[in-house]
Amino acid sequence: MTPLIAPSILAADFSNLQREVEMLNSSVADYIHVDIMDGVFVPNISFGIPVTEAIRRFAKKPMDVHLMIVNPDNYLEAFRNAGAEVISVHYEACTHLHRTLQTIKHLGAKAGVAINPHTPVELLTDVINDIDMVCLMSVNPGFGGQKFIEHTYSKISRLKDLILARGAKTKIEIDGGVTIENASKLMAAGADVLVAGSFVFNSPDPVRTISQLKSVE
Ligand code: DX5
Ligand code: ZN
Repeated sequence: MTPLIAPSILAADFSNLQREVEMLNSSVADYIHVDIMDGVFVPNISFGIPVTEAIRRFAKKPMDVHLMIVNPDNYLEAFRNAGAEVISVHYEACTHLHRTLQTIKHLGAKAGVAINPHTPVELLTDVINDIDMVCLMSVNPGFGGQKFIEHTYSKISRLKDLILARGAKTKIEIDGGVTIENASKLMAAGADVLVAGSFVFNSPDPVRTISQLKSVE
């Protein structure tokens, strides 16, 4: 199956955001992955709502917004209004995850749940039919450019089994340390969407790198 590719704007040149977004528009990317970090849920701060709006002003690809923040419920509407088509909240940051997912859907967005490397996929069993996309973290969230955690492959297989067993339509997104080296193996394990930040933006020809990722089997 052909992967859906979601380049992470976190690795872009923020002083030329318009140019970077236009580069993504001209590529075969399927989404723009937007990483929101609050310095509390993760030990880093990225950017927030005004920058997300600025990306939307030029983006011709849907924005997949990954909220690495505490109390995400307080900001769902703001990110939806800023143009998010997919909103992913962290399992570890949600006390009432089912309610949060319903809120995202009522706002008209697709509902995603991100899980940290230490969180078992089985914890999603009772909400899997309510989730449009699971974002499996293959690094500890907070920074781009980290090393891929190998244990992710078995989590993908287990999550895929869970989705099939429950007759769900949930997509599996892999976030962190994705490169052309591991992309095929991730797809073979059952991934649907590949996020790639530094591998795309640090390459000499990002448009070509996105095409390479898109053509893995
Ligand atoms: C990590 C972020 C990722 C990150 C991926 O906290 O959620 O989306 O931007 O960056 P790379 O592809 O460089 O690991
Ligand atoms: Zn992310």
